[in-house]
Amino acid sequence: MYIMISWFLYVRKVSTMKFEKYIEFIDATKVYKSGEVEIRALDNVSFSIREGELAVIVGESGAGKTTLLNVLGGMDTLTDGHVFMGPNEVSEFNRRQLEDYRRFDVGFVFQFYNLIPNLTARENVEIASQLTSGSIPAEEVLSAVGLKDRMDNFPSQLSGGEQQRVSIARALAKRPKLLLCDEPTGALDYKTGKSVLQLLQHTCRDQGKTVIIITHNSAITAMADRIIRLKSGRVVEVRENEARPIDEIDW
Ligand SMILES: Nc1ncnc2c1ncn2[C@@H]1O[C@H](COP(=O)(O)OP(=O)(O)OP(=O)(O)O)[C@@H](O)[C@H]1O
Ligand SMILES: [Mg+2]
Repeated sequence: MYIMISWFLYVRKVSTMKFEKYIEFIDATKVYKSGEVEIRALDNVSFSIREGELAVIVGESGAGKTTLLNVLGGMDTLTDGHVFMGPNEVSEFNRRQLEDYRRFDVGFVFQFYNLIPNLTARENVEIASQLTSGSIPAEEVLSAVGLKDRMDNFPSQLSGGEQQRVSIARALAKRPKLLLCDEPTGALDYKTGKSVLQLLQHTCRDQGKTVIIITHNSAITAMADRIIRLKSGRVVEVRENEARPIDEIDW
């Protein structure tokens, strides 16, 4: 009996344990070659992010932010170094493993939404759900992002903010472990941008999902649990932060 109880408690502990270093970059370097010129888009980058954190990666144009996110999302590979997600080394994945990783583990949100124009909001989300079993039904996830009444609209019939909500719903439908957002408010006005950031912050808090947001706007870092600052391919600052609600942040 005693052994059974201890085993139960152990399993419970392991299953609720959060990774301290859920995402870890170790000496990650990415060199692009164009002709004779070498560009070090990432130069010996090392940092880690805890499971369930909201991290903001900030830096000027050309700092290497998109490169970093694409490597983490399995869309690009490193020249040197290591990237881990949970117990897995993403930088060691073969093509097949990368495909599964992109399909099941990573949700992507892009600056320009990348919705399919001749499919409705519902159909755009359904396409993503069909890639995985156990995904959230399109109606449910679209309602959760406030688009219950707009499901049968085409992207061109939706505002920029609404289109970005569809793309967030699409990313969340497959229950990804990670939500990666590259300048998610880059194409939105101030107020709409804020509501999208609020949605991302709620997603992190309510679902315990690890969310990473890229921006060139330093003010947005105030919403983060962790701030990672990049400059010319290098990490110049990693800082834990007392995250503030979006409506308390102005820029
Ligand atoms: N496929 C590529 N081939 C060659 N150079 C590239 C490639 N992708 C990125 N680069 C270069 O790597 C550097 C980092 O680019 P990256 O797109 O990661 O920057 P960024 O921080 O996302 O910038 P932005 O804020 O403008 O989106 C830049 O100098 C860029 O020109
Ligand atoms: Mg970029």
